[in-house]
Amino acid sequence: MARRRLQLQTDLDALLASKEMVLVCGSGGVGKTTVAAAMAVAAVTQIGGRVLVLTVDPARRLADALGVGHIGNEATRVPDSAFAAAGVQPRGELWAAMLDTKAGWDDLIRLHAPDEQVREAVLANSTYHNLASRFVQSHDYLAMERLHELHSSGEYDLIIVDTPPSRNALDILDAPRQMKEFFRSWLLRWLTAPYRSRFFSMASKPFYQIADRILGSRFLEDIAEFFMLFQAMEKGFVEHANEVEALLADPRTTFVVVSTLEAAPSYEAAYLARELVRREHHLGAIIANRVLPASMTAKASATSARKLVKAARGDLAEQIAEQLDTQPEIVGDVLTEIGTRFHDVAVVATREAERRAELSELCQLLVAAPVLDRDVNDIADLLELAAHFTP
Ligand SMILES: Nc1ncnc2c1ncn2[C@@H]1O[C@H](COP(=O)(O)OP(=O)(O)OP(=O)(O)O)[C@@H](O)[C@H]1O
Ligand SMILES: [Mg+2]
Repeated sequence: MARRRLQLQTDLDALLASKEMVLVCGSGGVGKTTVAAAMAVAAVTQIGGRVLVLTVDPARRLADALGVGHIGNEATRVPDSAFAAAGVQPRGELWAAMLDTKAGWDDLIRLHAPDEQVREAVLANSTYHNLASRFVQSHDYLAMERLHELHSSGEYDLIIVDTPPSRNALDILDAPRQMKEFFRSWLLRWLTAPYRSRFFSMASKPFYQIADRILGSRFLEDIAEFFMLFQAMEKGFVEHANEVEALLADPRTTFVVVSTLEAAPSYEAAYLARELVRREHHLGAIIANRVLPASMTAKASATSARKLVKAARGDLAEQIAEQLDTQPEIVGDVLTEIGTRFHDVAVVATREAERRAELSELCQLLVAAPVLDRDVNDIADLLELAAHFTP
């Protein structure tokens, strides 16, 4: 058993050692951010090199877990002292960066604007300010752009990307195509028509003036100007979107799908895994997170639960009560409740085992991590979780 475990554990390590980019995806709340951080910590302690985890988690929780005061758009080095506190020494360097949507968009505009005039006009445009800070969907595209930029910099041996909480886990894959389609769309052409055509410009001027008098100064003009300026950046954006698409299909890139074994996330994970394969992306592993121990489905566990209920009113309750300094009747009630409810847990564990088997058909490597009895708070917790990334 120990050898088999070691062998398969090596598989996840081998995946992290052989790839340069890992995209961690899955439905909302399944543990993507946590798993991405756990993989990064495992990679830097077991393999080494310069490892970067790019997160989109705006909560300070991850920064706290990694022992860094603040994670921003610029990568921050996780200090060796944070590892020392967990009793380990990293073999390489761990860096963390957080996707800042607004700063990310500003950088993209600077990159793609054909000249200084367009750049300054976009950055000063009020519609742009509103969109850049509110356009949640753009998280997906920005995460891909940032990955592209960080990978091209050649500064890191391994980049692990924690993908944003999307309504649909596939959004991240579609983001580059959607960006290209946006530039080709009739909506953009229609919105910018008044500015591109002299006739429209003259004809629509009174309309803008009246509308802006009602809606507030330059409201519509700002919108139209924004879209027109955006169109001036089409070439740069489309070229980049093509490069980002190529990066997703690159043999150095792999996808790790995270899921709990509840019905809805498992369904979505299976869909995502099939879709990744269909699109010829590399599916490296499926990580089942927060799973119940396999022993919950064993016959011996059910027998133990039955015996526990029987023993709940006898010596056992008295012995426990003495140890815990509480009353035997209360201990008896608690044990009876636990014993009788065990059946529910066993049913859930059986369903989980079925879903796990279904998911394992879709990927050569399926690993499972248990529910920890606490929130994941520091590097020691992340390492504990990573140690469970065994089939
Ligand atoms: N195996 C685990 N045991 C205990 N708690 C866990 C485990 N995995 C994740 N958690 C906790 O679950 C919560 C959600 O995890 P996380 O933020 O990583 O999910 P997510 O998929 O990134 O969510 P979102 O889609 O909102 O970004 C966190 O509080 C985290 O500490
Ligand atoms: Mg997250």
